Amino acid sequence: MQLIKSQEELQGFLDDLRSRQATLGFVPTMGALHQGHVSLVQRALQENDACIASIYVNPAQFNDPKDFECYPRQEGSDIHTLAQASCTAVFLPEYSTIYPKGNTASTEVHYEVAQGLEGKHRPGHFSGVVAVVRRFFELIAPDRAYFGLKDYQQYLVIRAMAAELNMGIDIVGCETVRDPDGLAMSSRNQLLREQDRTTALHISATLREVKAAYSKGERKGLAALGRKLLQGCNGLDLEYFEVLDAKSLRPMEHSAEAQKDEVVALVAARVGGIRLIDNMRLC
Ligand code: PAJ
Repeated sequence: MQLIKSQEELQGFLDDLRSRQATLGFVPTMGALHQGHVSLVQRALQENDACIASIYVNPAQFNDPKDFECYPRQEGSDIHTLAQASCTAVFLPEYSTIYPKGNTASTEVHYEVAQGLEGKHRPGHFSGVVAVVRRFFELIAPDRAYFGLKDYQQYLVIRAMAAELNMGIDIVGCETVRDPDGLAMSSRNQLLREQDRTTALHISATLREVKAAYSKGERKGLAALGRKLLQGCNGLDLEYFEVLDAKSLRPMEHSAEAQKDEVVALVAARVGGIRLIDNMRLC
């Protein structure tokens, strides 16, 4: 696996691929890699001749400086994980490559799908995500880029951005990888104490329960059911639980009739001070 740190090294790697007309899949990450990240690399390798993953803890997308400080960093083992997965190259950029003007403050994100949920609860978060992913797209210009549906709203925001950029980059959404007990894999899970991890299991259990209610024909009280289950849970602070149209993230009553068979439940909660998000398609 090739280790790429500078823009020059990146250019060499890309020139070589292009001279061979090889296709390239891109997997952006913030490191502390787990099987969820690896699944994106595997998918990229199935669908392209080569895969480049990036590891960059992007300061611009952390609305909470303490979260940025505590975010797990483990470059050595991450490189090993990617090499094991047969990833072609890993890009470890410097701050100055990503933000050449030395300015992380970015403009507001105007996409409708960015306004609620994370957009509302983490002001500035999507501006930072869009800034860094746009910069990566400019630098790498891959054929396809791979994102986890675990961060469902992020996936929709990136799709909106890619459509606007019109660079011909295919955005591929990949299923959420879970631990056997149902907890969605996340780099932040390693910050959970043992008892918090047990509490965190209520998040996926509630999503499954709401999905079961949907399957039985329940439509109106789904978000209320999710909120009730999680609000009654000791040691868990619920930020939001919403059931929305899966394409627009609009409330169900405002979406077009045709979209009513695409429904997603989305949740954010703090457990032991660690902020976790998860979601599940109800249909
Ligand atoms: P990070 O949280 O490291 O996630 C990198 C990619 O892995 C994202 O597309 C995310 O959705 C995906 N992912 C995380 N957990 C997953 C799981 N359990 N199953 C499947 N995919 C999973 O998301 C980011 O980094 C950043 O915002 C980034 C896009 C890199 C921009 O800085």
